[in-house]
Amino acid sequence: MTQLGDLRNKINVLDDQIVRLLDERMQTSLAIGEVKRAEGRQVFDREREYAVLERVLKAVRKKTVPPAALLDIYSDLMLASRRLQGEARPTGAPKLYAVLGHPVGHSLSPAMHNKTFQFMTYNGMYFAVDTINVNQTIRALKALDFGGASITMPHKESVVESLDELHGTARELKTVNTVVNDNGRLLGYNTDSEGAMIALKAETAIAGKKTLLVGAGGAARAVAYGLKAENADLAIVNRDVKKAEQLAELTGGRAITFDNMLLEAWDIVINATSVGMLPNVDAMPVPAELFRPGMVAMDIVYNPLKTMFLQMAAAKGCVTVDGLSMFVAQGARQFELWTSMTAPTPYMRQVVLSLL
Ligand code: ATR
Repeated sequence: MTQLGDLRNKINVLDDQIVRLLDERMQTSLAIGEVKRAEGRQVFDREREYAVLERVLKAVRKKTVPPAALLDIYSDLMLASRRLQGEARPTGAPKLYAVLGHPVGHSLSPAMHNKTFQFMTYNGMYFAVDTINVNQTIRALKALDFGGASITMPHKESVVESLDELHGTARELKTVNTVVNDNGRLLGYNTDSEGAMIALKAETAIAGKKTLLVGAGGAARAVAYGLKAENADLAIVNRDVKKAEQLAELTGGRAITFDNMLLEAWDIVINATSVGMLPNVDAMPVPAELFRPGMVAMDIVYNPLKTMFLQMAAAKGCVTVDGLSMFVAQGARQFELWTSMTAPTPYMRQVVLSLL
C-alpha cells in the first residue's frame, strides 16, 4: 500500500468516528429539545451557544484546526441542532445587503454579517461590492429592493447625496457608514461613531469625563462627534496641530499640544491614529507616562489586538478597550438598524476574532 493509501485509510477511520460522535451529539440534542419543550423554553438559547463556541475555540487554540474553520463547523452544527429541535428555516428570497467601497476585498464585514444572519436565522445575504461610483451602485441596489448597506472608503461622504435622511451623528458629520432602506426611503447613519461610544460605554460613563483624543483624521472625526454627542470634556492632540484645532472647533473641544497633554490627568484616552498598527507594532501614539491607574484607554487599531498602547496602559493599571470592540460594535449597531433584532455581539466578536 502506498503512503497516500495508508493516510487515506486513517482518514476513513477517523471520519467513521466523527460521524458516530455527531450522531451521538444529535441524539443528545434531541433529548435537550424535549426538555426545552417540557419546560416551555425557546429552542434558541444564545447565551448557551456563546459558551459552547468559547469552550471549543479555547480547547483548540495552538492546535492545527484554524479557528475560522472550527467556528464555521460549530456554527453549522449548532444550527443543525436547533433545526432538529424544531426551529423553522427562513423561507422566501433573502434580503440583500452589501458593503460598498474601493477596495473592499480585505473587508471582514461580509463574513461577520453573513455568519450573524445565519446565527440569528435572519433571511439576509451580504456581499462585498467593489465600486468607484457609489451613487450608481445605490440606485442599482434600490432596484433590487436591498435591505441596507455598509459604506466604506472612499464613499462615506459622497454617498450622502443618494440619501433621504441623515440620523444621529451622521447628520452633523455628513459622513455615513450605514444605509437603511426603509420601504424606499434611504436613511443614513454613522455607526463608526455610535459603535465607538457603545464600546467605550461598556467600561465607563462619558459625560463630563476628561477625554483625550489622539488623532484628527477620518476615524478620529467619527469618534470626536460621538464624544461630543455624549457630552465628554474633550481635548484633541494631533501631529498636524492645524487639523486638531479644526476638529476641536467643530466638536466644541480644545486642541492641546503633545507637551501640554502630559500636564493634565485624563479619565479617558483614545488612540484614533494608525500608530501601532501592523507592521509597526512597537510604535506608541503617546508616551507611556500619560497612563495612570483607573484611566480608560481605548484603541481603534485592532491589528494587532493588543497594541503597544493597550499593553502599556494595562501595565499601568488602566482599563482597556481594544479596537475589535469598536469594530464589532459598529457592525452590531448596523445589524440592529437593519433587522430590528438585538445583535449577538459576543458571537460577532468570535467571528471576527477567528478571522484575524
Ligand atoms: P483614518 O481615516 O484612518 O483616520 P487619516 O484620515 O489618514 O486616516 O488619519 C490618520 C491619523 O493618524 C491622523 O491623525 C494622522 O496624523 P496627521 O493628521 O498629523 O497626519 C495620524 N498619524 C498617522 N501616522 C502617524 C504617525 N506616524 N505619527 C503620528 N500620527 C500619525
